[in-house]
Amino acid sequence: MTVLIRKVFLFGALLVTALQVASVTLPNLHRRQAATTPPVFLASDATAAAAAPAQPWNNPGQFHLNKNFVINATPTTRTYEWTISQKTIAPDGLERPMLLVNGMFPGPLIEANTGDRIVVKVTNNLTNGTAIHWHGMFQNGTNWMDGSGGVTQCPIPPGQSFTYNFTVPNQWGTYWWHAHAASQYVDGIVGPLVIHSPKEAHLGHYDEDVIVMLSDYYHTPSPTLVSWYLSPASDGSEPVPDNGLINGRNFFNCTLDPQALFPTHAPCQSNAPRSVFDFQPGLRYRIRIINAGSFADFQFSMDNHTLSVIEADGVDMQPVDVHRIPIHVGQRYSAIVQANQKVDNYWIRAQMNLNCFNEENPALDASVKALVHYAGAPVSQTAKSFDWADEAWPGRCLDLEASMLKPFVVRDAPPADIQVILDMSFQKITKKRVSLGYVNETSWVPLKKAATLFQANKGNTKFAATQFIVTLNQTQTVELVVNNYDEGSHPFHLHGHQVYVVGEGKGRYIPGESPLNTINPLRRDTVTLQTFGYTVLRFVNDNPGMWPFHCHINPHLDAGLMVQFLSLPTAVKQAFKIPAELKKMCSA
Ligand code: C2O
Repeated sequence: MTVLIRKVFLFGALLVTALQVASVTLPNLHRRQAATTPPVFLASDATAAAAAPAQPWNNPGQFHLNKNFVINATPTTRTYEWTISQKTIAPDGLERPMLLVNGMFPGPLIEANTGDRIVVKVTNNLTNGTAIHWHGMFQNGTNWMDGSGGVTQCPIPPGQSFTYNFTVPNQWGTYWWHAHAASQYVDGIVGPLVIHSPKEAHLGHYDEDVIVMLSDYYHTPSPTLVSWYLSPASDGSEPVPDNGLINGRNFFNCTLDPQALFPTHAPCQSNAPRSVFDFQPGLRYRIRIINAGSFADFQFSMDNHTLSVIEADGVDMQPVDVHRIPIHVGQRYSAIVQANQKVDNYWIRAQMNLNCFNEENPALDASVKALVHYAGAPVSQTAKSFDWADEAWPGRCLDLEASMLKPFVVRDAPPADIQVILDMSFQKITKKRVSLGYVNETSWVPLKKAATLFQANKGNTKFAATQFIVTLNQTQTVELVVNNYDEGSHPFHLHGHQVYVVGEGKGRYIPGESPLNTINPLRRDTVTLQTFGYTVLRFVNDNPGMWPFHCHINPHLDAGLMVQFLSLPTAVKQAFKIPAELKKMCSA
């Protein structure tokens, strides 16, 4: 087991390795610019605000949803044209190459109504293939539009385009989209996806609708981080973020860069602005929180403002009031917040859970911040407000307690027809002693120039040894028992479905003994497996296709933590009309 060794990891060794990794010849993305501008240290955030530079790649306006959007319009087609390319920008003041959609970071908002068709033409101007996944979309009948590299498609080759085209017949809420090829989303290919419906449970309980995308953030491009992580040098420790962002913005103190786990010495200005959310006194705000990061688990809070949670991963909840929302990678929550406090500025805090990291990064300020600015208060990049007094973190990295989250539309979990037991662990059993993630016996490696869906569509029943495929021949209720034999917590996401969370606890699941709750249990699409614990999920596999179930922590996916469900193979083989242009990309 990697467990003990991971804890005794030496910082010095990491630094040396980091430099070595960075000095190998790397593709375009890695090429750093020499540090020409000395870091400017500004005494306070207030000074920083005064000198805040323009951030032409960041569009704060798109995170405040437009009230003119008609949510009960007749179904229509929403068309987008995207070009993905690499560009050097400085979201937090430090320059680094990023991968951007239409030059934006975060990328463009997709906003639609239930019943609409979404059409996105993606042109790839990168030097590597890419694929875009619509996280949480059911894609019922269009599994090949799911955008999972090596699973439902081969990446869109450099210089080529592909048009994603799917409908959203029966879901609504808060989602996101991101690259699903290598580790590209960590470098910027992410954006919000919001589906409205007149059927939403809490419509009319809020006046304004706002998106808050949280993410951890790295000053070093992900390929360098991943190659280090998947080398013996890391000893299984994940790279620790250098910063965190809220809607793509945050302050960074450039003088800390030389002390970072991966120092960059890149041009840097200590004057990057934080995101500011304007509040009108008396109004009610729906805040849609998305953890679009790749590793860190956050606790989200707003000083003085209670959060009334009404949605988890696209499922309406009975409102529950909390001070803090823990949110792991891939998850979303909506909360209603009343602008009922004194006209002033207040901190929004997204506190990274340092308990989830194996290392320290001296450059990291784990308290990621943005501001609420009440109309009438002075414009500022700081606030004098205080954090809630109740403790931010339990020792471990857990979701909001499942018993607190009761779906608004009551549904009991159907009895299980079959049970699938998945044991996940990290093992150092390869020759190079690299720590890899295993689900049962398999550590996933994406296929090259092939996609498991296309193989299933041809009628294959056998797959490469790197692909752990669970075949579900008929529609039934699948009970998924996932045992976590790792010291880390793991946010697992099932594509194409919402799952019932019927049980979780410490240790291994013991049939007949471990308690289950099947009465209106929490439903969602991304569930955190606790440290050395188990989770029992149920889902109805009524959606034909090849569906990944994987840890959404990006390094863990790169290390192989993924299994695929081949649901209704006969339909996949006989009824799927996969566009030829999609298949053609495998031979590019
Ligand atoms: Cu958002 Cu396969 O993931």
